[in-house]
Amino acid sequence: MSIRHLIDFGDLSRQEWEEIYARAERIMDAPEKYLDACRGKLEGSLFFEPSTRTNFSFQTAMLRLGGTVFGFADPKSSSTAKGETLKDTIKMVSAYADVIVMRNPREGAAKAASLYSEVPVINAGDGGHMHPTQTMADLTTITRLRGGVDGISIGLCGDLKNGRTVHSLIKALAKFDNIKFYLISPRELAIPDYMRLFMQENHLWYTEVTGLEAVIPMLDVLYMTRIQRERFLDPLEYERNKGVYILNRRKLDRARPDMIVLHPLPRVDEIAVDVDDDPRAAYFEQARFGMYARMALLMDLANQGHRKPDPVEIGTKPVCSNPACITQTESSYLPPLVKVVNGRQCCAYCDKELR
Ligand code: NCD
Repeated sequence: MSIRHLIDFGDLSRQEWEEIYARAERIMDAPEKYLDACRGKLEGSLFFEPSTRTNFSFQTAMLRLGGTVFGFADPKSSSTAKGETLKDTIKMVSAYADVIVMRNPREGAAKAASLYSEVPVINAGDGGHMHPTQTMADLTTITRLRGGVDGISIGLCGDLKNGRTVHSLIKALAKFDNIKFYLISPRELAIPDYMRLFMQENHLWYTEVTGLEAVIPMLDVLYMTRIQRERFLDPLEYERNKGVYILNRRKLDRARPDMIVLHPLPRVDEIAVDVDDDPRAAYFEQARFGMYARMALLMDLANQGHRKPDPVEIGTKPVCSNPACITQTESSYLPPLVKVVNGRQCCAYCDKELR
């Protein structure tokens, strides 16, 4: 595999993903063969934001491969609390570790970290932006349970504005053929403009709707998400939107008998517990598939070795206006990186269009 870091699912070609998936399947079928695949390797686990599944899943993945894990799950216990920059934390941790797994509340933080790391960086969630390894869990589940991904109609339901798992999943599904996207959200929580630019550039078929019940009969996969309370700057906006979608048995009656229900978890109230025993509910299995996909990824990245990153020039001030972008807090050293999406100039950290 040619990638050094996993920041965005767009970094991977379809073929590279298929290699990871094939390895994940081999691991699932004979985990005892992989007990030493990362023997002697160390995962630096930097969780600047709460996590249960992703953190445990990466830890257990590394331990099952014979490697070890160090790090923190609470930034208050790290030097960030003393005012250390992300750059210095990464330079230090990458001197100790063989691979870095990082979750950070700032959009583009993983991209920023990758500029200064001697070892591969895996994005375990950067604010409301991206979460590519959750996408590996999602694709593994869809492939394993449905036999393939091409041609599916998928409903993405809930907080599509702040839900990073949705953004990553759309980026990944763009690599497959004939996907139909039903984007189901309140208008206030519709997908961000940068995702719309991406979908247009890639000529994806999509429709944006506010109601779940009308589209549920059309779907092969229903991907439910939580309203991301911690991302709301205005608590009233959260109050207006919480509890807006609740999938229950009655609504599921309208769905195809072979539809699958996914959720990255944790759920709040968007899937009623009476759905858990329906054979279409796949969200707990999905969490387990995620561990195998992460094992397959770690086998590659943790074994790449140390390499000095290219020197980074401290440029003129970053110009991104997104208040959640990493360039807002680490502006003293981050270069202003720009990329072009559908003819528009966008911030290469958080994807927001530069105006
Ligand atoms: C998701 C996340 O952190 O973005 N959880 C996860 O990684 N499994 C979804 C969420 O928190 O709603």
